[in-house]
Amino acid sequence: MEFQAMTQNQLIIFDTTLRDGEQSPGAAMTKEEKLRIARQLEKLGVNVIEAGFAAASPGDFGAIRAIAEAITETTVCSLARANENDIRRAGEAIQPAKKRRIHTFIATSPIHMQNKLRMTPEQVLDRAVQAVQWALEYTDDVEFSAEDAVRSDIDFLVQVFDAVIAAGAKTINVPDTVGYSVPGQWGERMAQLIARVRNSDKVIWSTHCHNDLGMAVANSLSAVLAGARQVECTINGLGERAGNASLEEIVMAVKTRRDVFQLETTIDTTQIVATSKLVSTITGYPVQPNKAIVGANAFAHESGIHQDGVLKHRETYEIMRAEDVGWGANKLTLGKLSGRNAFRTRLTELGITLESEDALNAAFARFKELADKKSEIFDEDIQALVSDNVVNEENFKLGYLHVASQTGETPHAEVVVLENGVEHRADATGGGPVDAAFKAIEKIVRSGAELLLYSVNNITSGTDAQGEVTVRLSKGGRVVNGQGADTDIVIASAKAYLNGLNKLHAYAERAHPQV
Ligand code: KIV
Ligand code: ZN
Repeated sequence: MEFQAMTQNQLIIFDTTLRDGEQSPGAAMTKEEKLRIARQLEKLGVNVIEAGFAAASPGDFGAIRAIAEAITETTVCSLARANENDIRRAGEAIQPAKKRRIHTFIATSPIHMQNKLRMTPEQVLDRAVQAVQWALEYTDDVEFSAEDAVRSDIDFLVQVFDAVIAAGAKTINVPDTVGYSVPGQWGERMAQLIARVRNSDKVIWSTHCHNDLGMAVANSLSAVLAGARQVECTINGLGERAGNASLEEIVMAVKTRRDVFQLETTIDTTQIVATSKLVSTITGYPVQPNKAIVGANAFAHESGIHQDGVLKHRETYEIMRAEDVGWGANKLTLGKLSGRNAFRTRLTELGITLESEDALNAAFARFKELADKKSEIFDEDIQALVSDNVVNEENFKLGYLHVASQTGETPHAEVVVLENGVEHRADATGGGPVDAAFKAIEKIVRSGAELLLYSVNNITSGTDAQGEVTVRLSKGGRVVNGQGADTDIVIASAKAYLNGLNKLHAYAERAHPQV
Protein backbone atom coordinates (compact mmCIF):
# COMPACT_ATOMS: atom_id res chain seq x y z
CA MET A 1 0.00 0.00 0.00
CA GLU A 2 1.08 3.53 -0.60
CA PHE A 3 1.46 4.39 3.09
CA GLN A 4 3.83 1.47 3.71
CA ALA A 5 6.18 2.82 1.07
CA MET A 6 6.10 6.18 2.80
CA THR A 7 7.27 4.98 6.20
CA GLN A 8 11.01 5.00 5.72
CA ASN A 9 12.04 8.60 5.34
CA GLN A 10 8.76 10.35 4.64
CA LEU A 11 6.88 12.35 7.23
CA ILE A 12 3.17 12.42 6.42
CA ILE A 13 1.62 15.83 6.97
CA PHE A 14 -1.99 15.49 8.07
CA ASP A 15 -3.63 18.88 8.10
CA THR A 16 -6.62 19.37 10.39
CA THR A 17 -7.15 23.12 9.93
CA LEU A 18 -10.62 22.46 8.53
CA ARG A 19 -11.62 20.23 11.45
CA ASP A 20 -9.67 20.81 14.68
CA GLY A 21 -8.74 24.33 13.53
CA GLU A 22 -12.38 25.08 12.85
CA GLN A 23 -13.21 24.15 16.45
CA SER A 24 -11.62 27.50 17.50
CA PRO A 25 -14.26 29.94 18.77
CA GLY A 26 -15.86 31.74 15.85
CA ALA A 27 -13.73 30.04 13.19
CA ALA A 28 -16.68 28.28 11.52
CA MET A 29 -16.30 28.50 7.75
CA THR A 30 -18.70 28.33 4.84
CA LYS A 31 -18.45 25.56 2.26
CA GLU A 32 -16.91 27.99 -0.22
CA GLU A 33 -14.29 29.13 2.29
CA LYS A 34 -13.41 25.53 3.16
CA LEU A 35 -13.02 24.70 -0.50
CA ARG A 36 -10.63 27.62 -0.98
CA ILE A 37 -8.51 26.45 1.92
CA ALA A 38 -8.62 22.82 0.78
CA ARG A 39 -7.41 23.78 -2.70
CA GLN A 40 -4.58 25.80 -1.19
CA LEU A 41 -3.67 22.89 1.13
CA GLU A 42 -3.42 20.65 -1.91
CA LYS A 43 -1.17 23.21 -3.58
CA LEU A 44 0.92 23.34 -0.40
CA GLY A 45 1.40 19.58 -0.73
CA VAL A 46 -0.12 18.19 2.47
CA ASN A 47 -0.75 14.43 2.35
CA VAL A 48 -4.08 14.32 4.16
CA ILE A 49 -6.76 16.99 4.51
CA GLU A 50 -9.08 16.38 7.44
CA ALA A 51 -11.98 18.21 5.87
CA GLY A 52 -14.34 18.18 8.84
CA PHE A 53 -16.64 16.14 11.03
CA ALA A 54 -19.38 14.93 8.71
CA ALA A 55 -21.93 14.16 11.44
CA ALA A 56 -21.73 17.71 12.87
CA SER A 57 -24.47 19.08 10.60
CA PRO A 58 -25.75 18.81 7.02
CA GLY A 59 -23.59 21.86 6.21
CA ASP A 60 -20.45 20.12 7.43
CA PHE A 61 -21.38 17.00 5.48
CA GLY A 62 -21.89 19.11 2.32
CA ALA A 63 -18.56 20.88 2.73
CA ILE A 64 -16.65 17.59 3.08
CA ARG A 65 -18.41 16.18 0.05
CA ALA A 66 -17.60 19.26 -2.00
CA ILE A 67 -13.93 18.96 -0.99
CA ALA A 68 -13.97 15.25 -1.80
CA GLU A 69 -15.26 16.14 -5.28
CA ALA A 70 -12.74 18.94 -5.87
CA ILE A 71 -9.48 17.50 -4.51
CA THR A 72 -7.65 15.11 -6.78
CA GLU A 73 -4.17 14.44 -5.36
CA THR A 74 -4.53 14.62 -1.60
CA THR A 75 -6.30 12.16 0.69
CA VAL A 76 -9.58 13.60 1.98
CA CYS A 77 -10.56 12.52 5.48
CA SER A 78 -13.59 12.93 7.72
CA LEU A 79 -13.55 12.58 11.48
CA ALA A 80 -16.12 10.25 13.06
CA ARG A 81 -16.80 9.31 16.65
CA ALA A 82 -16.83 5.56 17.22
CA ASN A 83 -20.53 5.13 16.49
CA GLU A 84 -22.31 3.75 13.48
CA ASN A 85 -24.12 6.93 12.46
CA ASP A 86 -20.98 9.09 12.52
CA ILE A 87 -18.99 6.54 10.55
CA ARG A 88 -21.66 6.09 7.90
CA ARG A 89 -21.98 9.88 7.50
CA ALA A 90 -18.19 10.15 7.19
CA GLY A 91 -18.09 7.32 4.65
CA GLU A 92 -20.81 8.93 2.52
CA ALA A 93 -19.23 12.38 2.71
CA ILE A 94 -15.79 11.27 1.46
CA GLN A 95 -17.20 8.86 -1.12
CA PRO A 96 -16.38 10.99 -4.23
CA ALA A 97 -12.71 11.43 -3.24
CA LYS A 98 -10.01 9.68 -5.23
CA LYS A 99 -8.16 8.94 -1.98
CA ARG A 100 -10.33 8.77 1.10
CA ARG A 101 -9.82 8.16 4.79
CA ILE A 102 -12.07 7.78 7.82
CA HIS A 103 -10.57 8.91 11.10
CA THR A 104 -12.48 7.36 13.97
CA PHE A 105 -11.74 7.96 17.63
CA ILE A 106 -12.78 7.09 21.14
CA ALA A 107 -11.41 8.27 24.47
CA THR A 108 -9.25 5.83 26.41
CA SER A 109 -8.33 7.73 29.59
CA PRO A 110 -10.10 6.86 32.86
CA ILE A 111 -11.33 10.45 33.28
CA HIS A 112 -12.94 10.50 29.80
CA MET A 113 -14.28 6.94 29.91
CA GLN A 114 -15.94 7.43 33.31
CA ASN A 115 -17.20 11.00 33.04
CA LYS A 116 -17.79 11.62 29.35
CA LEU A 117 -18.49 8.24 27.77
CA ARG A 118 -19.76 6.45 30.89
CA MET A 119 -18.33 3.26 29.42
CA THR A 120 -16.12 0.56 30.91
CA PRO A 121 -12.68 -0.08 29.37
CA GLU A 122 -14.05 -3.37 27.93
CA GLN A 123 -16.89 -1.52 26.22
CA VAL A 124 -14.44 1.06 24.82
CA LEU A 125 -12.21 -1.69 23.48
CA ASP A 126 -15.14 -3.45 21.77
CA ARG A 127 -16.46 -0.21 20.34
CA ALA A 128 -13.04 0.76 18.97
CA VAL A 129 -12.82 -2.53 17.05
CA GLN A 130 -16.41 -2.23 15.84
CA ALA A 131 -15.77 1.34 14.67
CA VAL A 132 -12.79 0.26 12.56
CA GLN A 133 -14.90 -2.55 11.03
CA TRP A 134 -17.70 -0.12 10.10
CA ALA A 135 -15.18 2.30 8.60
CA LEU A 136 -13.60 -0.46 6.50
CA GLU A 137 -16.91 -0.81 4.64
CA TYR A 138 -16.11 2.57 3.03
CA THR A 139 -12.33 2.62 2.64
CA ASP A 140 -9.29 0.58 3.52
CA ASP A 141 -7.56 3.75 4.74
CA VAL A 142 -8.82 3.84 8.33
CA GLU A 143 -7.17 5.86 11.08
CA PHE A 144 -7.88 5.19 14.73
CA SER A 145 -7.22 7.70 17.54
CA ALA A 146 -7.23 7.10 21.27
CA GLU A 147 -8.49 10.44 22.52
CA ASP A 148 -6.66 11.70 25.61
CA ALA A 149 -3.94 9.09 25.09
CA VAL A 150 -1.72 11.34 27.18
CA ARG A 151 -3.69 10.50 30.33
CA SER A 152 -4.48 6.90 29.38
CA ASP A 153 -3.01 3.83 31.01
CA ILE A 154 -0.26 2.57 28.70
CA ASP A 155 -1.21 -1.10 29.14
CA PHE A 156 -4.77 -0.29 28.09
CA LEU A 157 -3.53 1.72 25.12
CA VAL A 158 -1.42 -1.25 23.99
CA GLN A 159 -4.47 -3.51 24.27
CA VAL A 160 -6.67 -1.14 22.26
CA PHE A 161 -4.05 -0.56 19.57
CA ASP A 162 -3.34 -4.32 19.26
CA ALA A 163 -7.05 -4.86 18.69
CA VAL A 164 -7.69 -2.06 16.18
CA ILE A 165 -4.63 -3.02 14.14
CA ALA A 166 -5.88 -6.60 14.04
CA ALA A 167 -9.24 -5.19 12.89
CA GLY A 168 -7.58 -3.35 9.99
CA ALA A 169 -6.67 0.20 11.09
CA LYS A 170 -3.73 1.48 9.03
CA THR A 171 -2.82 4.61 10.98
CA ILE A 172 -2.64 4.79 14.76
CA ASN A 173 -2.86 8.28 16.16
CA VAL A 174 -1.73 9.13 19.66
CA PRO A 175 -3.22 12.45 20.77
CA ASP A 176 -2.21 14.76 23.57
CA THR A 177 -5.75 16.09 23.61
CA VAL A 178 -5.25 18.49 26.50
CA GLY A 179 -1.69 19.68 25.78
CA TYR A 180 -0.34 18.14 28.98
CA SER A 181 2.79 16.32 27.93
CA VAL A 182 6.41 17.43 27.78
CA PRO A 183 8.74 16.45 24.93
CA GLY A 184 10.82 13.79 26.71
CA GLN A 185 7.73 12.02 28.03
CA TRP A 186 5.86 12.22 24.75
CA GLY A 187 8.70 10.72 22.75
CA GLU A 188 9.07 8.01 25.38
CA ARG A 189 5.35 7.18 25.18
CA MET A 190 5.53 6.88 21.40
CA ALA A 191 8.66 4.68 21.62
CA GLN A 192 7.03 2.38 24.18
CA LEU A 193 3.87 2.01 22.13
CA ILE A 194 5.81 1.19 18.98
CA ALA A 195 7.89 -1.34 20.90
CA ARG A 196 4.99 -3.02 22.67
CA VAL A 197 2.09 -3.04 20.20
CA ARG A 198 1.79 -6.15 18.01
CA ASN A 199 2.38 -5.51 14.28
CA SER A 200 3.38 -1.93 15.01
CA ASP A 201 5.60 -2.06 11.90
CA LYS A 202 2.50 -2.64 9.73
CA VAL A 203 0.96 0.75 10.53
CA ILE A 204 1.84 4.42 10.45
CA TRP A 205 2.24 5.95 13.89
CA SER A 206 0.86 9.43 14.21
CA THR A 207 1.00 12.20 16.78
CA HIS A 208 -1.58 14.91 17.47
CA CYS A 209 -0.62 17.52 20.04
CA HIS A 210 -2.42 20.50 21.54
CA ASN A 211 -0.58 23.57 22.65
CA ASP A 212 -1.94 24.34 26.12
CA LEU A 213 1.56 24.51 27.61
CA GLY A 214 3.14 25.86 24.42
CA MET A 215 4.80 22.54 23.61
CA ALA A 216 2.67 21.10 20.80
CA VAL A 217 5.41 21.39 18.17
CA ALA A 218 8.18 20.21 20.52
CA ASN A 219 6.08 17.24 21.63
CA SER A 220 5.20 16.33 18.03
CA LEU A 221 8.84 16.46 16.96
CA SER A 222 9.85 14.34 19.93
CA ALA A 223 7.30 11.73 18.82
CA VAL A 224 8.76 11.90 15.31
CA LEU A 225 12.23 11.19 16.66
CA ALA A 226 10.72 8.20 18.46
CA GLY A 227 9.25 6.79 15.24
CA ALA A 228 6.01 8.64 14.43
CA ARG A 229 5.72 9.12 10.67
CA GLN A 230 2.57 11.24 10.60
CA VAL A 231 2.07 14.58 12.32
CA GLU A 232 -1.37 16.10 12.72
CA CYS A 233 -1.18 19.86 12.63
CA THR A 234 -2.89 23.05 11.53
CA ILE A 235 -1.93 26.18 9.64
CA ASN A 236 -0.87 28.94 12.06
CA GLY A 237 -1.35 26.44 14.91
CA LEU A 238 -5.08 27.23 14.77
CA GLY A 239 -7.28 25.17 17.07
CA GLU A 240 -9.35 25.04 20.19
CA ARG A 241 -7.97 26.77 23.30
CA ALA A 242 -4.23 27.33 22.67
CA GLY A 243 -4.45 25.50 19.35
CA ASN A 244 -2.74 22.55 17.66
CA ALA A 245 0.84 21.97 16.56
CA SER A 246 1.63 24.44 13.82
CA LEU A 247 2.20 22.90 10.39
CA GLU A 248 4.69 25.51 9.25
CA GLU A 249 6.87 25.09 12.34
CA ILE A 250 6.92 21.29 12.05
CA VAL A 251 7.71 21.34 8.35
CA MET A 252 10.45 23.95 8.62
CA ALA A 253 12.01 22.26 11.63
CA VAL A 254 12.23 18.98 9.73
CA LYS A 255 13.57 20.72 6.63
CA THR A 256 16.04 23.02 8.39
CA ARG A 257 17.29 20.31 10.75
CA ARG A 258 17.49 17.49 8.23
CA ASP A 259 20.66 16.46 10.07
CA VAL A 260 18.51 15.62 13.12
CA PHE A 261 15.31 14.23 11.55
CA GLN A 262 16.54 12.76 8.25
CA LEU A 263 13.02 12.94 6.89
CA GLU A 264 11.35 14.46 3.86
CA THR A 265 7.93 15.99 3.46
CA THR A 266 6.01 16.67 0.25
CA ILE A 267 5.37 20.28 1.29
CA ASP A 268 6.14 23.07 -1.18
CA THR A 269 7.41 25.43 1.49
CA THR A 270 7.14 28.46 -0.80
CA GLN A 271 3.34 28.14 -0.39
CA ILE A 272 3.46 28.45 3.40
CA VAL A 273 2.98 32.20 3.77
CA ALA A 274 0.15 32.36 1.23
CA THR A 275 -1.63 29.52 3.03
CA SER A 276 -1.13 31.18 6.40
CA LYS A 277 -2.58 34.45 5.12
CA LEU A 278 -5.54 32.74 3.53
CA VAL A 279 -6.42 30.87 6.72
CA SER A 280 -6.00 34.00 8.80
CA THR A 281 -8.23 36.07 6.48
CA ILE A 282 -10.95 33.45 6.33
CA THR A 283 -11.07 32.52 10.01
CA GLY A 284 -10.47 36.00 11.43
CA TYR A 285 -7.55 34.74 13.50
CA PRO A 286 -4.66 37.15 12.93
CA VAL A 287 -1.08 35.89 13.11
CA GLN A 288 1.01 37.41 15.90
CA PRO A 289 3.96 39.38 14.47
CA ASN A 290 6.60 37.32 16.30
CA LYS A 291 5.09 33.95 15.32
CA ALA A 292 7.80 31.65 13.93
CA ILE A 293 7.90 31.32 10.12
CA VAL A 294 4.68 33.21 9.29
CA GLY A 295 4.74 36.19 11.67
CA ALA A 296 5.42 39.55 10.01
CA ASN A 297 8.65 39.89 12.04
CA ALA A 298 9.85 36.31 11.60
CA PHE A 299 12.55 37.42 9.19
CA ALA A 300 12.87 41.10 10.20
CA HIS A 301 16.10 42.28 11.78
CA GLU A 302 15.67 45.20 14.13
CA SER A 303 19.03 45.64 15.81
CA GLY A 304 21.89 47.29 13.96
CA ILE A 305 24.29 44.48 14.85
CA HIS A 306 21.98 41.84 13.37
CA GLN A 307 21.34 43.90 10.23
CA ASP A 308 25.03 44.40 9.70
CA GLY A 309 25.67 40.69 10.20
CA VAL A 310 22.90 39.68 7.81
CA LEU A 311 24.09 42.12 5.15
CA LYS A 312 27.67 40.83 5.38
CA HIS A 313 26.75 37.18 5.47
CA ARG A 314 23.11 36.12 5.69
CA GLU A 315 23.72 32.99 7.71
CA THR A 316 25.18 34.87 10.66
CA TYR A 317 21.67 35.33 12.02
CA GLU A 318 19.33 33.54 9.60
CA ILE A 319 18.82 29.80 9.60
CA MET A 320 16.17 29.85 6.86
CA ARG A 321 15.56 32.04 3.83
CA ALA A 322 12.42 34.17 3.87
CA GLU A 323 11.77 33.37 0.22
CA ASP A 324 11.85 29.62 0.94
CA VAL A 325 8.63 29.95 2.95
CA GLY A 326 7.03 32.34 0.48
CA TRP A 327 7.79 35.75 1.93
CA GLY A 328 8.13 38.33 -0.82
CA ALA A 329 6.14 36.17 -3.18
CA ASN A 330 2.96 38.19 -2.68
CA LYS A 331 2.45 39.35 -6.18
CA LEU A 332 1.53 42.79 -7.22
CA THR A 333 -1.10 41.23 -9.38
CA LEU A 334 -3.55 43.70 -10.70
CA GLY A 335 -4.09 47.41 -11.03
CA LYS A 336 -6.66 50.00 -11.93
CA LEU A 337 -6.57 49.12 -15.60
CA SER A 338 -6.90 45.36 -15.21
CA GLY A 339 -9.96 43.99 -16.89
CA ARG A 340 -12.56 41.44 -15.90
CA ASN A 341 -10.72 38.59 -17.62
CA ALA A 342 -7.45 39.33 -15.84
CA PHE A 343 -9.38 39.44 -12.58
CA ARG A 344 -11.11 36.14 -13.31
CA THR A 345 -7.77 34.51 -14.25
CA ARG A 346 -6.12 35.65 -11.02
CA LEU A 347 -9.07 34.32 -9.01
CA THR A 348 -8.61 30.94 -10.68
CA GLU A 349 -4.87 30.98 -9.95
CA LEU A 350 -5.69 31.68 -6.32
CA GLY A 351 -8.08 28.72 -6.25
CA ILE A 352 -11.15 30.94 -5.89
CA THR A 353 -14.26 29.88 -7.76
CA LEU A 354 -17.22 32.18 -7.48
CA GLU A 355 -20.50 30.43 -7.73
CA SER A 356 -22.12 32.57 -10.39
CA GLU A 357 -21.47 35.29 -12.95
CA ASP A 358 -23.33 37.67 -10.62
CA ALA A 359 -20.89 36.89 -7.81
CA LEU A 360 -17.98 37.47 -10.19
CA ASN A 361 -19.47 40.78 -11.34
CA ALA A 362 -19.99 41.90 -7.73
CA ALA A 363 -16.42 40.96 -6.78
CA PHE A 364 -15.08 42.72 -9.88
CA ALA A 365 -17.04 45.87 -8.98
CA ARG A 366 -15.49 45.78 -5.48
CA PHE A 367 -12.07 45.28 -7.04
CA LYS A 368 -12.53 48.36 -9.25
CA GLU A 369 -13.64 50.41 -6.24
CA LEU A 370 -10.56 49.28 -4.33
CA ALA A 371 -8.25 49.98 -7.27
CA ASP A 372 -9.50 53.58 -7.26
CA LYS A 373 -8.37 54.00 -3.67
CA LYS A 374 -5.24 51.89 -3.69
CA SER A 375 -2.78 51.88 -6.55
CA GLU A 376 -1.31 48.41 -5.97
CA ILE A 377 -3.55 45.39 -5.53
CA PHE A 378 -1.94 42.28 -4.03
CA ASP A 379 -3.15 38.70 -3.75
CA GLU A 380 -4.07 39.33 -0.10
CA ASP A 381 -6.32 42.22 -1.19
CA ILE A 382 -8.12 39.92 -3.61
CA GLN A 383 -8.56 37.22 -0.96
CA ALA A 384 -10.00 39.83 1.41
CA LEU A 385 -12.39 41.33 -1.07
CA VAL A 386 -13.73 37.92 -2.00
CA SER A 387 -14.05 37.01 1.69
CA ASP A 388 -15.98 40.23 2.18
CA ASN A 389 -19.04 38.62 0.73
CA VAL A 390 -18.86 35.10 2.00
CA VAL A 391 -22.15 34.68 3.77
CA ASN A 392 -24.38 33.66 0.94
CA GLU A 393 -27.68 34.68 2.43
CA GLU A 394 -26.71 38.18 3.45
CA ASN A 395 -29.32 39.51 5.77
CA PHE A 396 -27.70 42.82 6.64
CA LYS A 397 -25.60 44.97 4.31
CA LEU A 398 -23.93 48.30 4.85
CA GLY A 399 -25.64 50.93 2.72
CA TYR A 400 -24.03 54.14 3.96
CA LEU A 401 -21.83 55.34 6.78
CA HIS A 402 -20.86 58.82 7.84
CA VAL A 403 -18.74 59.42 10.93
CA ALA A 404 -17.64 62.70 12.45
CA SER A 405 -14.73 62.64 14.83
CA GLN A 406 -12.53 65.50 15.95
CA THR A 407 -10.57 66.52 19.03
CA GLY A 408 -12.79 67.82 21.80
CA GLU A 409 -16.03 66.54 20.19
CA THR A 410 -18.05 63.39 20.83
CA PRO A 411 -17.78 61.08 17.81
CA HIS A 412 -21.02 60.68 15.91
CA ALA A 413 -22.05 58.10 13.33
CA GLU A 414 -24.94 57.97 10.91
CA VAL A 415 -25.58 54.66 9.22
CA VAL A 416 -27.87 53.04 6.68
CA VAL A 417 -28.25 49.27 6.89
CA LEU A 418 -30.08 47.27 4.25
CA GLU A 419 -31.99 44.43 5.81
CA ASN A 420 -32.91 42.05 3.01
CA GLY A 421 -32.83 45.05 0.70
CA VAL A 422 -34.96 47.34 2.93
CA GLU A 423 -33.23 50.55 4.09
CA HIS A 424 -33.01 51.50 7.78
CA ARG A 425 -31.26 54.62 9.05
CA ALA A 426 -29.99 55.46 12.53
CA ASP A 427 -27.43 57.60 14.26
CA ALA A 428 -25.55 57.39 17.55
CA THR A 429 -22.67 58.86 19.49
CA GLY A 430 -19.91 56.81 21.05
CA GLY A 431 -16.52 56.77 22.78
CA GLY A 432 -14.85 56.70 19.35
CA PRO A 433 -15.99 56.53 15.71
CA VAL A 434 -16.10 52.71 15.71
CA ASP A 435 -18.09 52.62 18.94
CA ALA A 436 -20.52 55.20 17.52
CA ALA A 437 -20.90 53.19 14.29
CA PHE A 438 -21.57 49.92 16.17
CA LYS A 439 -24.13 51.66 18.40
CA ALA A 440 -25.93 53.10 15.38
CA ILE A 441 -26.00 49.65 13.75
CA GLU A 442 -27.32 48.10 16.97
CA LYS A 443 -30.15 50.66 17.05
CA ILE A 444 -31.28 49.17 13.74
CA VAL A 445 -30.60 45.48 14.14
CA ARG A 446 -31.20 45.12 17.92
CA SER A 447 -29.17 41.91 17.94
CA GLY A 448 -28.12 42.10 21.59
CA ALA A 449 -24.94 40.23 20.57
CA GLU A 450 -21.98 40.60 22.89
CA LEU A 451 -18.75 41.91 21.36
CA LEU A 452 -16.00 39.59 22.61
CA LEU A 453 -13.13 40.82 20.48
CA TYR A 454 -12.25 43.64 18.11
CA SER A 455 -8.99 43.73 16.19
CA VAL A 456 -7.55 45.57 13.19
CA ASN A 457 -4.68 44.46 10.99
CA ASN A 458 -3.30 45.88 7.79
CA ILE A 459 -3.53 43.40 4.95
CA THR A 460 -0.47 44.68 3.11
CA SER A 461 2.01 47.42 3.98
CA GLY A 462 1.62 51.17 3.48
CA THR A 463 -0.88 53.72 4.77
CA ASP A 464 -3.15 53.11 1.80
CA ALA A 465 -3.37 49.39 2.73
CA GLN A 466 -6.72 47.86 3.48
CA GLY A 467 -7.45 47.45 7.16
CA GLU A 468 -8.88 44.06 7.98
CA VAL A 469 -11.15 44.15 11.00
CA THR A 470 -12.24 41.09 12.98
CA VAL A 471 -15.05 41.16 15.51
CA ARG A 472 -16.02 38.18 17.61
CA LEU A 473 -19.70 38.16 18.54
CA SER A 474 -21.52 35.90 20.93
CA LYS A 475 -25.21 35.30 21.25
CA GLY A 476 -27.18 32.47 22.83
CA GLY A 477 -24.02 30.39 23.33
CA ARG A 478 -22.93 30.72 19.68
CA VAL A 479 -19.72 32.52 18.79
CA VAL A 480 -18.81 33.83 15.34
CA ASN A 481 -16.01 35.93 13.85
CA GLY A 482 -17.07 38.68 11.47
CA GLN A 483 -14.57 40.24 9.09
CA GLY A 484 -14.53 43.33 6.95
CA ALA A 485 -11.83 44.95 4.87
CA ASP A 486 -11.58 48.47 3.53
CA THR A 487 -9.01 51.21 3.15
CA ASP A 488 -11.14 53.08 5.74
CA ILE A 489 -11.02 51.17 9.02
CA VAL A 490 -14.31 52.55 10.35
CA ILE A 491 -16.07 51.24 7.25
CA ALA A 492 -14.14 47.96 7.61
CA SER A 493 -15.36 47.79 11.23
CA ALA A 494 -18.99 48.34 10.28
CA LYS A 495 -18.71 45.67 7.57
CA ALA A 496 -17.12 43.26 10.06
CA TYR A 497 -19.91 43.83 12.57
CA LEU A 498 -22.60 43.19 9.96
CA ASN A 499 -20.71 40.16 8.64
CA GLY A 500 -20.68 38.74 12.18
CA LEU A 501 -24.42 39.35 12.54
CA ASN A 502 -25.05 37.62 9.21
CA LYS A 503 -23.03 34.63 10.38
CA LEU A 504 -24.97 34.45 13.64
CA HIS A 505 -28.05 34.31 11.48
CA ALA A 506 -26.79 31.88 8.85
CA TYR A 507 -24.83 29.22 10.72
CA ALA A 508 -26.95 26.38 11.93
CA GLU A 509 -26.36 24.43 15.13
CA ARG A 510 -23.66 21.81 14.79
CA ALA A 511 -22.45 18.99 17.00
CA HIS A 512 -18.96 19.15 18.48
CA PRO A 513 -17.10 15.84 18.06
CA GLN A 514 -15.42 15.88 21.45
CA VAL A 515 -18.21 17.12 23.71
O1 KIV B 1 -7.32 16.30 20.30
C1 KIV B 1 -7.85 15.19 20.02
O2 KIV B 1 -7.77 14.21 20.75
C2 KIV B 1 -8.58 15.12 18.77
C3 KIV B 1 -9.05 13.77 18.36
C4 KIV B 1 -10.41 13.80 17.80
C5 KIV B 1 -8.05 13.15 17.45
O3 KIV B 1 -8.75 16.09 18.09
ZN1 ZN C 1 -7.35 17.71 18.68
